[in-house]
Amino acid sequence: MNKITIIGTGYVGLVTGVGMAEFGNRVICSDIDKTKIKNLNSGVLPIYELGLEETIKRNIKNNRLSFSSDVKESIIKSDVIVIAVGTPEGENGKADMSYVLSVAKTISKNLNDYKIVVTKSTVPIGSGKQIIDLINNRVNNQNLFDYVSNPEFLREGSALKDFLWPDRVIIGTDSEKAYEIMRNVYRPLYINTNPIVHTSVETAEMIKYASNSFLALKISYINEIANLCEAVGADVHKVANAMGQDGRISDKFLHPGPGFGGSCFPKDLEALLAISEKNNVKMKTVEAAIIANYNQKQRMVEKIINLFHGDIKNKKIAILGLAFKANTDDIRESSAINMINSLNSHGVSINAYDPIANNEMAKIINNINYFDNLYDAVNKVDAVIIMTEWNEFRSLDLKKIKRKMSGNILLDTRNIINMDELSAQGFVYDNVGRIKK
Ligand code: UGA
Repeated sequence: MNKITIIGTGYVGLVTGVGMAEFGNRVICSDIDKTKIKNLNSGVLPIYELGLEETIKRNIKNNRLSFSSDVKESIIKSDVIVIAVGTPEGENGKADMSYVLSVAKTISKNLNDYKIVVTKSTVPIGSGKQIIDLINNRVNNQNLFDYVSNPEFLREGSALKDFLWPDRVIIGTDSEKAYEIMRNVYRPLYINTNPIVHTSVETAEMIKYASNSFLALKISYINEIANLCEAVGADVHKVANAMGQDGRISDKFLHPGPGFGGSCFPKDLEALLAISEKNNVKMKTVEAAIIANYNQKQRMVEKIINLFHGDIKNKKIAILGLAFKANTDDIRESSAINMINSLNSHGVSINAYDPIANNEMAKIINNINYFDNLYDAVNKVDAVIIMTEWNEFRSLDLKKIKRKMSGNILLDTRNIINMDELSAQGFVYDNVGRIKK
């Protein structure tokens, strides 16, 4: 049984730790944040993630999972050490490596025996070498560790599922020994199929950025196609469906919307751009994806202003959905933030409702009215804007909503509401790239 320590209990660290325990390894999830560990030990999770709570409980019971704030001791007890701390956006779009390097230092001080040092955090290409050099400079015996880049491809909201049933697992290492041990960590995955890809460290680091940037680019692309659809009278859903039937394109990540958000795409695009600039390589497509995404967020604001024929001051608007996507309480870089700030600056009064992200949004925006109930939030408003594709919003009681509202405007930035029903209830509406009824 592999003994693994995961350092960092954010969403990547926690899901990775729980997933590796589920694969049959013995895992310690370690963090210097004592409160977080105390909470985890008493069953309180720092994030909301589908299926996580039950899987944690099961693995604790089976003695495969534990939590500790003693990072040193956790390292000493383990053979595989996984770095899963944050790499927030730093100066000029560059990823801030300070947490990762600080963990690497702690690891170097506690290499009591041969260990594999694995990076899960999204780090700029070349970071592996930086971490290897840092540890080498601090230990006498260079045979005490091998290094692996093992990037994550977890989507918030379905992160545990993505971990347990991955399309591929990238193991970037120059050491055969480390590769074999890591293969063993992921052993249940290749009993029937083999999703494991062995690469060099730099290639693994590049795969992560290339994948995220490509998906972001794909979203920006379909958003711009949607905008053109509006101008020429075409329907973006039909366009995206037909495009997706071409196996070379695939139908994933072709859903138009209010612009992508989250803790990954916006930050990773900036970081990739910073890496390309440092290496004097032009990446116009990545630059364009960033600009298109900014424009898309603005376009949503213009749409609601247009629905009011420019006269939006002193109006009351309900925003349904604050999270950057459904099934998470994460609001980082959410398009709802731009919408709220823009509407605020136009003198609009805002009611907000999200099934689980109200508290997160209230931490950064406190001059709007938060509601625990959707139908209370729409009471006496002039317009409703749907910002997140929560299932709860797909089956809205439009009749009831219309009755409670004082106006009849609805902007569906996620294209989840049936247009026939909107027309039938007398709504004046808009969405993204559809032919209006
Ligand atoms: C993303 C990647 O999908 C993961 O593979 C990656 O591991 C993760 O970043 C990371 O680097 O940690 P995540 O940010 O959780 O995952 O969420 P996504 O499902 O990718 O959505 C990102 C944004 O794009 C959301 O705002 C979503 O609403 C938007 N989106 C997504 C669209 O507008 N259209 C789509 O078709 C898909």
